[in-house]
Amino acid sequence: MKKIIAVLTGAGMSAESGLSTFRDAGGLWEGHDVMQVASPEGWADDMDLVLEFYNQRRRQLIKAQPNAGHIALTQLEELFDVTIITQNVDDLHERAGCRHVIHLHGELLKARSTRYADLVYPWSKDILRGNLCERGAQLRPHIVWFGESVPMMDEAVRVVSKADLVLVIGTSMQVYPAAGLVYYAPPEADIYYIDPRPQINTELAMRLNLKVIRKTAGEGVPQLVDSLLRHTGLEM
Ligand code: OAD
Repeated sequence: MKKIIAVLTGAGMSAESGLSTFRDAGGLWEGHDVMQVASPEGWADDMDLVLEFYNQRRRQLIKAQPNAGHIALTQLEELFDVTIITQNVDDLHERAGCRHVIHLHGELLKARSTRYADLVYPWSKDILRGNLCERGAQLRPHIVWFGESVPMMDEAVRVVSKADLVLVIGTSMQVYPAAGLVYYAPPEADIYYIDPRPQINTELAMRLNLKVIRKTAGEGVPQLVDSLLRHTGLEM
């Protein structure tokens, strides 16, 4: 049976594809008030501002390409049962060719009804005031905002709980519940954390099998993937 790898990715995964992270210097939350553009209250207060914020993100995404890190992860699928669990709302894992991707925080290339949550549509252009679902309600970005529930969390917990190996890539581990996922890993699972500026709290530091790789995703992920593919079937 193939070993199970859970890959937890954050904004740093896509930084080398030209998409800004949130909390780095110059990141998205430096130029925008997070509660104005990423909360139900912000939407109620100024819908046009929120639409424009995500329209800009969508336009950037359409021009972006997967980087060497995204592409390297697809190679793991040759020998392992791999699930990507991403906080990212981009589709760069899918475009690189990853087959199992769970989006915890939604997807930029989808729009959904503000009134009927199950009406979700593929969407690659701007979402405008007046774009309606088939039942007449305004469309909004298909993004999980602060204060909203994370519907894919249970499935993500199930995957991490049975993982033999967990890779954490490019996340500041600040936003819960996503940041808590890594603690569901079985005690014997190896955890690799690839990030040029990893945030290691006491709980994470106590995991005996934690290996920190202070590199960017574009550099660190291909190196780790290469090593995992070469050593698989041995001790892992
Ligand atoms: P953050 O912006 O909080 O953290 C980005 C992480 O990426 C940091 O730890 C950086 O050191 C790291 N990083 C930067 N460049 C990198 C590179 N080239 N390679 C690898 N790592 C790099 O982003 P997230 O942790 O993803 O949610 O943020 C989590 C959530 O907060 C987002 O999903 C978003 C945001 O608010 C919502 O909007 C709902």
